[in-house]
Amino acid sequence: MTKVKEHESIPVTKVQRATKFITTGAKIGGNYLKHYSKKLVNPELTKDQLHEDNATDIYKSLSQLKGSALKIAQMLSMDKNLLPTAYQNQFAMAQYSAPPLSYPLVVRTFEKYFKKRPNQIFDTFSQSARNAASMGQVHEATLNGKKLAVKIQYPGVGDSIKSDLAMVKPIALRMFNLNPTEYDEYIQEVQSRMMEEADYALELDRSMDLSVKCKDIDNLVFPVYYPEFSNDKILTMDWLEGKPLGEFLKLEKLTKTEANQIGQAMWDFYHFQIHQLKELHADPHPGNFIITDDRKLGIIDFGCVKVIPPDFYPQYFQLLEKDILQDRARLEKAFYELRFIYEDDSAKEKKFFIDIFTQLVELLGRPFRTKEFDFDDKAYFESIYFFGERLASMKELRESKKARGVKHAIYINRTYFGLYNLLHDLKAKINTSSWVPF
Ligand SMILES: Nc1ncnc2c1ncn2[C@@H]1O[C@H](COP(=O)(O)OP(=O)(O)O)[C@@H](O)[C@H]1O
Ligand SMILES: [Mg+2]
Repeated sequence: MTKVKEHESIPVTKVQRATKFITTGAKIGGNYLKHYSKKLVNPELTKDQLHEDNATDIYKSLSQLKGSALKIAQMLSMDKNLLPTAYQNQFAMAQYSAPPLSYPLVVRTFEKYFKKRPNQIFDTFSQSARNAASMGQVHEATLNGKKLAVKIQYPGVGDSIKSDLAMVKPIALRMFNLNPTEYDEYIQEVQSRMMEEADYALELDRSMDLSVKCKDIDNLVFPVYYPEFSNDKILTMDWLEGKPLGEFLKLEKLTKTEANQIGQAMWDFYHFQIHQLKELHADPHPGNFIITDDRKLGIIDFGCVKVIPPDFYPQYFQLLEKDILQDRARLEKAFYELRFIYEDDSAKEKKFFIDIFTQLVELLGRPFRTKEFDFDDKAYFESIYFFGERLASMKELRESKKARGVKHAIYINRTYFGLYNLLHDLKAKINTSSWVPF
């Protein structure tokens, strides 16, 4: 591994952060100018280089900001299939290459919360971070012969989330063609989840609670958590031996049976939470799954948990019922309930959106309408990406002034999106009828 320069501090003051965003905005403006002036002499020019330049500039400034801005980059990268390739590559890096904080800053955090230095608490403690986290970093420690993972949050992260999100707004609107009305509705939901994510004490509670409730699902492994070595900014648990899923799939091979078993464990994990617990780990990022040496699925990172409101649950999950596509009246009623369409939409808008969302339900609900589904099906994933591209290019969608879809769906959609992609990467064949309540 190449040595990454450690940051002595992060720009936390409002002014410093604002300056970063403004300079990024200016650079992006410049990239557009460059693009369009080149296009004057070369009308064939595609936007690839422009996207590449923008992605590089945004990534550079986000990776220095860390914290919530980096988290936004991470979130955007999870929607990779809806973004141009240049963004995918830059944002995917955001997950692994945040420059670490120096050891003195780590010690200072320990002294502030425990009145002790790390090596007064643990038998050993790694001076440098073993893994980057989006709002912090993970160190390796040992105590009484046990290997532990200690996640430490960057100072100042919690306070900066609101101002970061406010400052990301103009960039996000411009870069991703987002509708401002939609953005405001959804950003509240994102802000709440991110504020929760900055609270490691809440993460500790949720990790202990959900890992105990899910412990009987086959082929899953959870770390034991240590409340006595945890607080708002520090989270201590067992180290899970193995490789994160993304890395594992690059380096090692699974037999078909192993891949199906791991995929099934992941499927059951999500559907048990959704249908039995009505709250779920809502961050199916490849870094949050560890494939252990005995080919089980280790689960970490309950920082982002979505609690499913009781009235939202039947509204949303009726879309997965097997015969819903045959019952147009019921489907339309569901679309109104979920605010995909509104009573005061024009007849033309209603027709347009009913049509689009019916196609979405047909496409994304397909795995639920058979007993078994093979997520290795390339044609299926191509039709999802193709549909995503078509959606992104539709001016009716861009120009609609209304938010489409209730905000509770955001994290559920993201979770399914991540889950489908991971199962595709695993090439897993899944028994999809387990845990579906109807
Ligand atoms: N208990 C653990 N065992 C092994 N690796 C871990 C453990 N906890 C975290 N890591 C490593 O550190 C990374 C970041 O931790 P994570 O909890 O996912 O942070 P974040 O909430 O910022 O995503 C993980 O992707 C993983 O590689
Ligand atoms: Mg994580």
